[in-house]
Amino acid sequence: SHHHINLDQPIPRKPILNGDNHLHYTPAISGASTPASTASPGPLSAEVYFASHVAPKSLPENAEKIRAFVDRHMHEGRRVVLVTSGGTTVPLETQTVRFIDNFSAGTRGATSAEYFLEQGYAVIFMHRQFSLQPYSRHYSHARNCFLEFMEADDQGIHVMPAYVEKMKLILEKYRATQKAGLLLTLDFVTVHDYLFLLREAAQIISKMDVNAMYYLAAAVSDFFIPQDKMSEHKIQSGDGLLNLSMDQVPKILKPLVNDWTPKAFIVSFKLETDEALLPTKSRQALKRYGHQIVIGNILTTRKRVVKMISADDETEIRLTQEEDEVEHIEIESRIVPALIEKHTEWIEACGKRGECG
Ligand code: PMT
Repeated sequence: SHHHINLDQPIPRKPILNGDNHLHYTPAISGASTPASTASPGPLSAEVYFASHVAPKSLPENAEKIRAFVDRHMHEGRRVVLVTSGGTTVPLETQTVRFIDNFSAGTRGATSAEYFLEQGYAVIFMHRQFSLQPYSRHYSHARNCFLEFMEADDQGIHVMPAYVEKMKLILEKYRATQKAGLLLTLDFVTVHDYLFLLREAAQIISKMDVNAMYYLAAAVSDFFIPQDKMSEHKIQSGDGLLNLSMDQVPKILKPLVNDWTPKAFIVSFKLETDEALLPTKSRQALKRYGHQIVIGNILTTRKRVVKMISADDETEIRLTQEEDEVEHIEIESRIVPALIEKHTEWIEACGKRGECG
C-alpha cells in the first residue's frame, strides 16, 4: 500500500529485459481494443489471480497445521483469531535480489496476539518472516537485543537482576502458551505467499463460523509484478534508470468476507499518513467490503491513538501522555478487549442473521 516509488500504469504481458535497463512489456494480445501504452486492465479479480499463479510450495504443509489447530480448538470450545502481521514484499526478479517492501515492524500484530492469548483465544499468528513475534518481541528489537539483558561471571550466564522480574513473567506466559498449544505461527514473505496462505487459512477456519475472528494488521502490497512478466535474473544496472510497470493486487477483503469465511468477525486496519483522509477512507473500506470493523491509524501516532469504526459506532481509543510515556501502557491492551466485547455481541446476535451453528 505504501510504496515510495513512481508506478506506471500496468501494461499487459511478456517481459523483455533489454540491455538499457528498462523492463518492457509487450502486449500479448495484439490489436487489443485499447492501445497498450494507455491500457489499464484494472484490478485483477482474486479468482483470476489464484488461477494464474502457482501456489507456494509450503502451502499444503501449512494447511495441515491449520486444520489440526482449528479442529482441536473447535473441539475444546475455544474461539480462534487469525492475526496477520508485518509487511509483504513484491520481488522484482524471480531469482530475487531486489524487492519492494511494505512498512510494518509487526508490533501491532505481535502485541495484540499476546492480549488475545491472555483472553483465552487460540491464535494463528501469520507474520512476515523475521518480523516481531509474541513474547520474543520484548527482547528482539534492534535496540533491545537479548544480550543487553544478560551478564556472565564464574558461575555462568544469567539475566541481570534488574530484568529478572519482567522476564520471568513473560517467560511464564510464553511457556504456558507453548504447553497448551494455543499459538500457531506461520510466516510469509511475498504478497503472493500472503494471499495464498490467507485464502487457505480462511477456507479452513470457516468451519468455526461466528467463533472465528480475523485481525488483519499486516501491511499488504497494492502493486505487484505477475509471474509471467517478471525478469528471471537480476536486473542489470547500466544507465541508472529503471522503469517499473506493475499490476494491482486483487482486493482480497471482498472474497474473504463474501466467499471464504462469510460468518466470521472481521477486523481490518487502515493506515494513513494524512489525518484528514482517515475517517473517510476507513468508512469507505467498511462499506466496500461489508465486514465488521475498521481500525484507523496514523503512521506517526499509531501507538497512542486509533479509531474503531463499525457500521453504527465510532470509538476513539487514546492513551494519555502519562499512560503512554510513564506507565508504558500498550494501546493493544485496550484495543483487544474492546474487540472481544464486539465479537461476543456478534456471536450472540448470530440468530438474527440466521448464522448460528
Ligand atoms: O507493525 P507496526 O509497525 O506496529 O505497524 C502497524 C500498522 C500501522 C502496519 C497496522 O496498525 C496497520 O495499520 N496495518 C494495515 C496497514 C495497511 O496499510 O493496510 P492496507 O491499506 O494495505 O490494507 C487495508 C486493509 O485491506 C487491510 O486489512 C488489508 O488486509 C486489506 N487488503 C489489503 C490489500 C489487498 N490487496 N487486499 C486487502 O484486502
